[in-house]
Amino acid sequence: MTGDEIRKKFLTFFEKRGHKIIPSASLIPENDPTVLFTTAGMHPLVPYLMGEPHPEGARLTDAQKCVRTGDIDEVGDNRHLTFFEMLGNWSLGDYFKKEAIEWSYDLLTSSEGYGLDPGRLYVSVFEGDAEMGLGLDTESIGHWQTQFRKADIDAKVGEKIFAYPKAKNWWGPAGQTGPCGPDTEMFYDTLNLADPKAHAAGWIGGEACHPNCDCGRYVEVWNDVFMQFNKTAEGGFEPLVKKNVDTGMGLERMTMMLQKAPTVFETDLFQPIIAVIEGQSGRTYEKNEKAARMMRIVADHIKTATFIIGDPRGVGPSNTDQGYIVRRLIRRAVRFGRLIGITQDSFVGAIADKVIEMYGQHYGELVTNRQRIMDDLRNEEEKFSATLQRGLQEANKLKDQYAAHVEIPGTVAFYLYESFGFPMELTEEVLGKKVSSREWEEEYKKHQEKSRAGAEQKFAGGLADNSEIVVRMHTATHLLHKALRIVLGNHVEQKGSNITSERLRFDFSHGAKMTPEQIAQVEDIVNQQIAKDLPVHFDMLTVDEAKAAGAIGLFEDKYAALGNKVKVYAVGDEERGYFSKEICGGPHVEHTATVGTFKILKEEASSAGIRRIKAVVL
Ligand code: ALA
Repeated sequence: MTGDEIRKKFLTFFEKRGHKIIPSASLIPENDPTVLFTTAGMHPLVPYLMGEPHPEGARLTDAQKCVRTGDIDEVGDNRHLTFFEMLGNWSLGDYFKKEAIEWSYDLLTSSEGYGLDPGRLYVSVFEGDAEMGLGLDTESIGHWQTQFRKADIDAKVGEKIFAYPKAKNWWGPAGQTGPCGPDTEMFYDTLNLADPKAHAAGWIGGEACHPNCDCGRYVEVWNDVFMQFNKTAEGGFEPLVKKNVDTGMGLERMTMMLQKAPTVFETDLFQPIIAVIEGQSGRTYEKNEKAARMMRIVADHIKTATFIIGDPRGVGPSNTDQGYIVRRLIRRAVRFGRLIGITQDSFVGAIADKVIEMYGQHYGELVTNRQRIMDDLRNEEEKFSATLQRGLQEANKLKDQYAAHVEIPGTVAFYLYESFGFPMELTEEVLGKKVSSREWEEEYKKHQEKSRAGAEQKFAGGLADNSEIVVRMHTATHLLHKALRIVLGNHVEQKGSNITSERLRFDFSHGAKMTPEQIAQVEDIVNQQIAKDLPVHFDMLTVDEAKAAGAIGLFEDKYAALGNKVKVYAVGDEERGYFSKEICGGPHVEHTATVGTFKILKEEASSAGIRRIKAVVL
């Protein structure tokens, strides 16, 4: 069975059972500023799991593109990938444990499905949690026992069914808040199943393990989550109005199982990509494990970069957020490509082309966005290749110099970053030891301040020309910032501010488009403060005092800092209260009435999780 067939089988199996097949959502989450990428099939469905009706009904199935970068360093072993497809079926307040478990069993074991051996199938369930007031999931145990009986298997707890605590058998939320619940996971025992070379690759562990053992003998193939709770921002769990089912099967792992491949990279979802890399490097994948590992990294990373850039809300390489991940993936791939002997100036495009050829039929956006993918990859590859050579020479010198150190100083890593574009992780790889992360962060912050200083200088230049209007807009920006926090919530933080004599532009963190009502409310609040003609003044405070006074704004603002104190601008007075306190270098108007009438022209997305407002003062 090919990967394509496995995906198709899943979708049609559930379609036959009343599920609507829905297309994969974007890899870039639309309404969740807490994560960079879609990490699970349920993630884009959160509003529906919370009770909003889905236009396609209460039973859904899909293959969702997912990216998880937490394990990026583990890529290259037999299981870890940064991009994967999650096959899933959902009940939105419709069926629950009984049907979910029955269909999971049938799809895995029947000839209509994947025809796996029930004798090799093991499951885990939630053992309960006293603090949450939940007991052992006896209901799921009962349903599993009914299913295993179809194959004359007496599925005893402790032999076939294993109960684990919350750390193992609880899923979600996908971000920091949202739907979650106990789950039941399915594992396949691969002992002596695969090709003997799997043993050599260390795929299969000893006899004495259990489903949750990490040796790789039992491979988790599917997870059924029974979503009953919503995790709130305060960390509490409130019951959901409707109970849902959310399941997730990793296509790549399932393909590995069904193709009896020793690793996901030996399946038809990777072999054609590996073949391109073999051709480019003149090496054979199986010849040596070290080179094979590097080939897997190149294959994984370029596949992921292709999907992120080629997404309908695609993101290209940059120094922030998703863009930084894309940059890191491409640079890591280029670097490993060189290490396995690829000498062509430009090689990642050909790998991406293979990815598009393999996946374009199911994910049409890759074909539509092919040119953008090629351009972004080539640009980044060129940019990086030019400095890589010099950087590697420099890094090798440093390697000798810091041979006796336990950690690489942050200043050294930052030097490689600034001069040669080496991400911190690459420096760690080349020098063979960790970078001091605290020092790295300090350096990184200093660097950000420097670029902000550059921007402020431009701002100061503008100020000289159009001083009055710009100062008015500057104060309006503080009022806007505070009004947004009042209307939308305290998660709103300034992500960027730019003022010209024509308009102010303010970027802030918020996960959803503002409604017209919210926009009107923000405008009203700002104009009320202007109408009150509140005084504006500043105090010099220590950072701790500023925090205690409830000041918002950028605590590392270089222009607000003087010695160890920062300038805090306050709008308001003792008598009427302070509407806003914000760390800022100024200047500002002396009384808010000077600002004029505040008007929002536009509210739009700036990047994932960041909104942008353009406004004027009249
Ligand atoms: N949401 C569940 C998972 O990712 C199914 O495993």
